[in-house]
Amino acid sequence: MIDLQLIRNAFADRFDGESTLFNAPGRINLIGEHTDYNGGFVFPGAVSQSITAAVRPNGSRTVHAVALDLGIDDTFNIDDERGPESVHLRYLFGVVREIMKLGVAVEGFDIVYGGDIPLGAGMSSSAALESCVATALNTLFADGRIDKMTLARVGQATEHNYVGVKCGIMDQFASMHGRAGQLMRLDCRSGEFAYYPWKPNGYSLVLINSCVKHELVGSPYNDRRNSCEHVATLVGVETLRDCSWQQLEAVRDQLSDEDYRRARYVLGEKERVLAVCDALEQGDYTTVGQQMYGTHLGLRNDYEVSCEEIDFLVDKAHQHLVTGARLMGGGFGGCAIILVADSQKEAFLTDTAKAYENRFGRQCQIIPVTIGDGAKKL
Ligand code: GLA
Repeated sequence: MIDLQLIRNAFADRFDGESTLFNAPGRINLIGEHTDYNGGFVFPGAVSQSITAAVRPNGSRTVHAVALDLGIDDTFNIDDERGPESVHLRYLFGVVREIMKLGVAVEGFDIVYGGDIPLGAGMSSSAALESCVATALNTLFADGRIDKMTLARVGQATEHNYVGVKCGIMDQFASMHGRAGQLMRLDCRSGEFAYYPWKPNGYSLVLINSCVKHELVGSPYNDRRNSCEHVATLVGVETLRDCSWQQLEAVRDQLSDEDYRRARYVLGEKERVLAVCDALEQGDYTTVGQQMYGTHLGLRNDYEVSCEEIDFLVDKAHQHLVTGARLMGGGFGGCAIILVADSQKEAFLTDTAKAYENRFGRQCQIIPVTIGDGAKKL
């Protein structure tokens, strides 16, 4: 978490006086990638890296936003249907408008925010921003009566309607519901979820940020989703969650090779998440790790959302006989998530960081993972 005094002082400098602080985290995902919008299971957890905002209603119809990390100091009117042009401000505008749709009388406010979630790392800094603002508006204008799942859906609708990414619910769900030391298994079809204590004795989760972002906003992500929906329609099910291997094979000759492979990945990933749940109950981290490698193969070969840099990091893990590794998040760059025995950790990370720099002429970033709490008023 960023230094709270820094945010508080920045608010006082810019707007004078007191403010209320809100915080919302980024997330990791152990397994279950691109399954959320297919009605499947995901296994995320909130992380200690987060966004903190100082907020105060200003009695007008204007939002005045200062994003410390981005050097943005700008305003928009909450009644202007078109909203601001700045992509960044559209995250705030979207949350405001979606909360208004719930019948809340939102008013203008001043907000200063910043955080320590690396941008473009696939750790959901945008979901953290949405969850932070949604939590603030719920507290300041709705007496806290909106439940967390609805606030998560506000963030998701912001992505859909104001940013153009047809994302699933995982990121906003995790940012809203996170609990220190616990991962969550969410059934994205029913919305039911359970907390799983994350105490991997002798192992750690580590992120290695490739520090590259090829492209994510917009089409490549939405194309994957369209493929899945196309296959589901052809099979006659609502989402691929309800599609069996037999049903997929039955329509194979009506599908492009690409759409077939996209669906094949999703069906495989459904099984991997459930295998991981069983393995976690047994404390069997070897199986957890094998499933992670399985996910990576699927994401690389069938879903085609990996990239050279991430493949390199996962290959390195494999060569070092590290327990598990895979691309995390939407793809096209960002982080690899690694499950590594503590006894190997130092040597593996040192060697990999060096090898990455030799190969790509740039540094990767090692990010330790601590599973933290979800969005809250501080
Ligand atoms: C992004 C989206 C999520 C999810 C992941 C892939 O993070 O926002 O909804 O689809 O990609 O698992």
